[in-house]
Amino acid sequence: MTAPTHQLIASRASAYDAIYAHWRSHRFTRESYESNLAFFLDMDASAHGYLNGDELRFAYELLGTDSISDKTVLDCCCGTGKSTVYLALRGARVHAFDSSRQAIAVAKESADLSGVADRVQFAVQDAQYLPYADGSFDAVFCQSALHIVIDYPRCARELARVLKPGGMAVFCEEALGHNPLLKPIRWYRRRKYVTCGGRALTCQDLRRFGAPFQNVCIYHFNLLAQSKTLLGGLSRHPWIKTALRRCAAWDKAMLARWPALRRYCGKVVVAYRNPCSS
Ligand SMILES: C[S@@+](CC[C@H](N)C(=O)[O-])C[C@H]1O[C@@H](n2cnc3c(N)ncnc32)[C@H](O)[C@@H]1O
Repeated sequence: MTAPTHQLIASRASAYDAIYAHWRSHRFTRESYESNLAFFLDMDASAHGYLNGDELRFAYELLGTDSISDKTVLDCCCGTGKSTVYLALRGARVHAFDSSRQAIAVAKESADLSGVADRVQFAVQDAQYLPYADGSFDAVFCQSALHIVIDYPRCARELARVLKPGGMAVFCEEALGHNPLLKPIRWYRRRKYVTCGGRALTCQDLRRFGAPFQNVCIYHFNLLAQSKTLLGGLSRHPWIKTALRRCAAWDKAMLARWPALRRYCGKVVVAYRNPCSS
């Protein structure tokens, strides 16, 4: 697919503006944010309204959050800036951008409230045209936007360009499009986002997007255990918790034994690495 036109990007940005108009800024601390990163099976929908678990923790581990202090990180399509603020709270200098003006307004306010405004620079811009110099970033992070930017080949090239030699771009995403059981759920969840763009990803898409980088690693999370997202409040019931825990144990065993099942998982983390300079 050719790069989407400026008009298409602008109309998608205003669709997101309308969605983010109802979002509020938050004051995050490292502890409050990390308490929402509990293991998937241990968590309830949080005060901040999102349900991420093992895969997001894993993505941060790949980024090296324990030693990220004074590294420069790019948060691509940052939305309202939850990860931006968290990475800054961990000591990184963060550049974050999104095409939605409204998202960036909320993100800036959250950075102010969280006391990290001096470590973060926000920009309203298109992921396909980045104003940063080559090799500006130690790492790139992107949560829940690969399914939108996947069709922008220019975006992958831009991200590889602004990433330092040997640097890693880490993408955290929802389920791939291979699982037929998830199709109705995806449709239901995404029905209010149809004008925002985006589509279900395939393993082939992930590899194709990785062409400008040196290598691609795909990590899969939650197969049977992803049924938790359907159970809502019921998943707090002790015997359902026990059943889900059993599912998680089976998931580990099955995914190790039958790798072909991995593509049906509920979450995916993709890590693209730039070649080290010679
Ligand atoms: C599903 S949201 C994810 C936001 C955030 N990363 C998070 O996890 O909360 C996708 C984001 O991608 C942004 N986006 C979509 N296309 C973009 C583009 N071409 N350039 C920059 N941002 C874009 C949208 O405005 C939206 O904020």
